[in-house]
Amino acid sequence: MTDPAAPTTLPVAYAVRDGIAVLTIENPPVNALSQGVRAGIIAGLEQADADPAVQAAVIIGGGRTFIAGADIKEFGKPPLQPYLPDVLKRIEAMKKPVVAALHGTALGGGFEVALACHWRVALESGQVGLPEVKLGLIPGSGGTQRLPRLVGPKVALDVILSGNPMPARKATELGAVDEIVTGELLDGAIAFARKVVAEKRPLRLVRDMNDKVSNVDPAVFEEIRKANARKAKGFLAPWRCIDAVEIATKLPIDEGLLKEREFFFECMGSPQRAAQIHAFFAEREAAKIPGLPEEVKPKTIRSAAVIGAGTMGGGIAMNFANAGIPVKILEVSQEALSRGLGVIEKNYATSVARGSMKQEAMDRAMKLISGTQRFEDIGDADIVIEAVFEEMGIKKEVFAKLDKIMKPGAVLATNTSTLDIDEIAASTKRPQDVIGTHFFSPANVMKLLENVRGAKSSAETIATVMALGKTLKKVPVLAGNCDGFIGNRMLHGYLREANFLLEEGCLPEQVDRVLEEFGLAMGPFRMGDLAGLDVGWRIRKGKAHLRPKDERYSRVADRLCELGRFGQKTGAGFYRYEGRDARPDPVVTEIIFEESKAQGIERREISDEEIVQRCMYPLVNEGARILEEGIAIRASDIDITYLFGYGFPVYRGGPMFWAEQIGLDKVLATIRGFHKIHGKFWEPAPLLVQRGEAGKGWKDR
Ligand code: COA
Repeated sequence: MTDPAAPTTLPVAYAVRDGIAVLTIENPPVNALSQGVRAGIIAGLEQADADPAVQAAVIIGGGRTFIAGADIKEFGKPPLQPYLPDVLKRIEAMKKPVVAALHGTALGGGFEVALACHWRVALESGQVGLPEVKLGLIPGSGGTQRLPRLVGPKVALDVILSGNPMPARKATELGAVDEIVTGELLDGAIAFARKVVAEKRPLRLVRDMNDKVSNVDPAVFEEIRKANARKAKGFLAPWRCIDAVEIATKLPIDEGLLKEREFFFECMGSPQRAAQIHAFFAEREAAKIPGLPEEVKPKTIRSAAVIGAGTMGGGIAMNFANAGIPVKILEVSQEALSRGLGVIEKNYATSVARGSMKQEAMDRAMKLISGTQRFEDIGDADIVIEAVFEEMGIKKEVFAKLDKIMKPGAVLATNTSTLDIDEIAASTKRPQDVIGTHFFSPANVMKLLENVRGAKSSAETIATVMALGKTLKKVPVLAGNCDGFIGNRMLHGYLREANFLLEEGCLPEQVDRVLEEFGLAMGPFRMGDLAGLDVGWRIRKGKAHLRPKDERYSRVADRLCELGRFGQKTGAGFYRYEGRDARPDPVVTEIIFEESKAQGIERREISDEEIVQRCMYPLVNEGARILEEGIAIRASDIDITYLFGYGFPVYRGGPMFWAEQIGLDKVLATIRGFHKIHGKFWEPAPLLVQRGEAGKGWKDR
């Protein structure tokens, strides 16, 4: 049954060629399976079945791709008929052969449509996959029941749990696709359909293939559960994916399909699904910069230079090399340069040894990286990224030099994580070309690129670094210029409260456990030990004279540093280390207890809930200020910053989305409570007050 509200012209064109009905899906940009598409496929199939001149049907995507999945915009809204399983039922009920012709990305519901067809052909450049898990879902229209029947449960779960697309060639080798078409896809698909008709091949439905799902040892699934325990911790969907595929090996397909649907709706109703879909759209939204004139185009980046061969500089250079862009690293001392280049080579070699990179790819990348000690050698680069010591004086000196030697129009970028972009830009005569490109450590791994615009950065410079983010396979977000920009500015309150909690009654292991259960990869103290406590200590000492005398200040970390406990690298910090294993340390406990006493604080039992609120609500409160000041363009950009730069759990959608799900009114009430107890650090942000009191979200006006 089609919903009465369905559009009258359906986005599926019907034509007949050489006795083959061709159903072409025309729903740009990605032919998502919106209601009209679903209805259109059914209508086309009915027409094909009824037409005596038609011997078979081909389903193909118009434009750049086959169906790239369900229409994500329909998720969370009341479902509209016909449902996707109805479409698949109609395909399977066809009396004539149906061939899916795949190009671009046949993903999710799109691949499920193909799996319900009798045969599948694809262009070599095509890809198939079931990415639902990335959206907090399981494939809900037979993916978990049909794919295992074609390729076996293990391979099927590789595809379903990774969510990553698989090249058509590989899918053909595994049996998920029947034939690769060379030349025009439609011609090839029609030829294939004609061959099937001529050979009078019996109709072949995946649902009837039971060999690969029979007699499967249940231990297979236990192993998969174990292997995914860490990666899938906290998530719902991956576990349901495994359950559903296991069911495919135990129950007849129709029962399996019902069970799959049940799991699908369980995931659909979960806040994780809402959070992950928020993240999907937020990532795409972050690339859009309001106010950039349309005629402004990014500059082409064909070559790059990086100043500084330290951990950051090396990692940044690797990004360029991985993207096929030649990059020169400048370092004044030969020794530091050789060390830096050596580290890069070692990092690549580790990836090769692990199997995540091919030797040829490493060789190619290494050829693109060169070192120099002379500024004159880098003058012709299209972009230069400065990654030297985080000190204004040094940065200004570097930029003054760059101003002299870089060719006109080159982008002059700084990887500073906190410093004033405008002050740096002022040391050049071309502030319009200066911008922040803040990479996250390790820079060759972390996905976030926090671009920071200065007051004078030109639209073209902004567009260039946003596009560069994509080229380097990063997730770019645009921030305004302030101390710490979006990410590090927010982190301040988080770390402050974690330390205060120690004085009030917690131990590092409790705070870390709670925040790791919340979904962070590492709690603040384990993270601090990993990053090195001396860095923060040095900064705190430098800023000590700015701190008001009456301001609360935790001395625990300073005392650890005074003992030479800088974290993992010295074998002790907030924990003591056996290899990489962090063990609670009585010495630390004693220091904490002493500090509580010195501060006149009576230690108390602190609940897990309070730990989450005390550490996470400062992110939300500062996020509200950042939003109000226009440092972030939108709340979802703050979420993207935290998801891709700080390991915030994607199933919570980012701090701002998470707060909205709790209710800004409730968050405000708790913050007001903390304000009364703990004073000025908890002053609620005006925007939070306004939205919370009005019972609104961040986007509401
Ligand atoms: N439903 C609705 N809109 C979708 C969509 C979907 N399944 N997939 C993509 N879009 C939209 C994007 O939001 C974007 O819209 P915008 O231009 O207004 O921002 C546009 O289509 C292009 O997508 P984009 O991701 O920017 O293009 P791409 O070429 O880089 O990637 C895909 C294309 C299909 C690989 C990618 O969009 C994707 O992975 N989509 C999700 C597929 C999926 O998860 N399907 C299963 C759903 S259960």
